[in-house]
Amino acid sequence: MRKKIVAGNWKMNLNLGEGYTLVAEILSKLPSLSESQQVIIAPPFLHTQQTITQTQYTPFVSVASQTCHHETSGAFTGEISATMLKDAGVRYTLVGHSERRAFNSEDNALLAKKTSAALDAGIDVIFCCGESLDIRDAEQQNDYVAQQLKESLFHLDAKAMSNIVIAYEPIWAIGTGRTASAQQAQDMHQHIRSVLVAQYGQEVAQNTSILYGGSCKASNAAELFAGEDVDGGLIGGAALVADDFIGIIKAMIAAK
Ligand code: PGA
Repeated sequence: MRKKIVAGNWKMNLNLGEGYTLVAEILSKLPSLSESQQVIIAPPFLHTQQTITQTQYTPFVSVASQTCHHETSGAFTGEISATMLKDAGVRYTLVGHSERRAFNSEDNALLAKKTSAALDAGIDVIFCCGESLDIRDAEQQNDYVAQQLKESLFHLDAKAMSNIVIAYEPIWAIGTGRTASAQQAQDMHQHIRSVLVAQYGQEVAQNTSILYGGSCKASNAAELFAGEDVDGGLIGGAALVADDFIGIIKAMIAAK
């Protein structure tokens, strides 16, 4: 059985006090979760230790980083390695968020290295993929996303793939208030799963959680998560407000 997941990506928002208050409020309102339901919080690096301390006794809630470096250690000023994150108690890392691709020039080849570095350190990867509006308008989104998966993930064997979560985030829907329709999300998730079937077979593909991200809110989460291949969400803006994030978690629990 694949997991249903709601992950909150805080991006570069909230100071330590604000982060503490938000996590405390989320935990106080959190419905009980089962093993097949996971809530993940991805705060800025500075919050990592505090957020881990706050969430450590809450089952099925874990902390992610928003990125990691592809090397284990060395002269990489300003960077943090996956081994350091693992040591601190981080369970997941985002890899390949479109903002990292755009603002930090992270390409598919580098993301393949980051993915391997995280898995080698014992951190599961939430691998983000998704097309720009130009690519969607040209109806090239299926090939484009398949290529992202191929170039960044397909060096992994089937065992390593079991530690990968995929987040489909159409760039045109991130932070724009414009959401993919439930049908567009389901169509792409089904496509992603079929690409995984072709590479790894049914068992791996059926066990891989595929999250939707891009202006997902409490008001549209239920509709988006109703898709057969939509296993939850990667949430930006709405993860910064406890009631909104809780509403999305409830939609995940209620789905299917
Ligand atoms: P958004 O961001 O929910 O604010 O659109 C999603 C993301 O970038 O992960």
